[in-house]
Amino acid sequence: MNKTLRKAVIAGNWKMNKTPSEAKALLNEIVPLVADADCEVIACVPYVDLAVAVEAVKGTNIKIGAENAHWEQSGAFTGEISTGMLKEVGVEYVVLGHSERRQYFGETDETVNKRTKAVLKAGLKPIVCVGELLWERECNITEEVIARQIKLDLFDVSAEDVKNVIIAYEPVWAIGTGRTATDDQAEEVCAFIRAEIAKLYGQEIADGMTIQYGGSMNDGNAAALLSKENVDGGLIGGASLVAAKFAAIVKAASV
Ligand code: PGA
Repeated sequence: MNKTLRKAVIAGNWKMNKTPSEAKALLNEIVPLVADADCEVIACVPYVDLAVAVEAVKGTNIKIGAENAHWEQSGAFTGEISTGMLKEVGVEYVVLGHSERRQYFGETDETVNKRTKAVLKAGLKPIVCVGELLWERECNITEEVIARQIKLDLFDVSAEDVKNVIIAYEPVWAIGTGRTATDDQAEEVCAFIRAEIAKLYGQEIADGMTIQYGGSMNDGNAAALLSKENVDGGLIGGASLVAAKFAAIVKAASV
């Protein structure tokens, strides 16, 4: 992290976990544990938990995020949720392009781009996920894959708007596998992402952009990952479902 240049952000990605009553209980546990955090703290929760979650964190330093959003405002899109719906509930962040959506639900860079633009237009902040598959890393094309995702996912996003974007680098092989990227691997790709952003938007915007690492980040490895210059936070799956573990990661980002 380089806190002189940018904001450290720790975001929980709950995925398809916790009912509304369970969400309320978990947030009630987390709230006092992260009250003195010196970083941004976000919980991205399932749609049906959003209203309860916003209520549970009212008056605290925790912000609530959704796990996706559609690009249209309304219409015949069964099963989708619009940015207007999210805003009205009090959501501030939206995870977009998570590898599970790309892998299981046909999400493409084109749809991630549409969603990103809609989220920004609504005044919400997207957490745009990028990352290579294991075989792409083994074929030595990690940088090509990431550069392509960055270019396509942010296509037509203005320099002003991109200041509200958080990028999460999530190597697909590290998600939910217990296999974390090494600190150096995380730093290498996060630095590469920053360099790509600099090419597209200039160095100043790149220097100010929050770039998270995600993929089996936990209370044991967070401090070392976050000690890297270009790792500005984390997108946390499994460990965000346990209050003490999530709080420990927040603490590691608060030094
Ligand atoms: P994980 O998930 O921490 O469980 O690996 C991270 C993510 O998918 O955002």
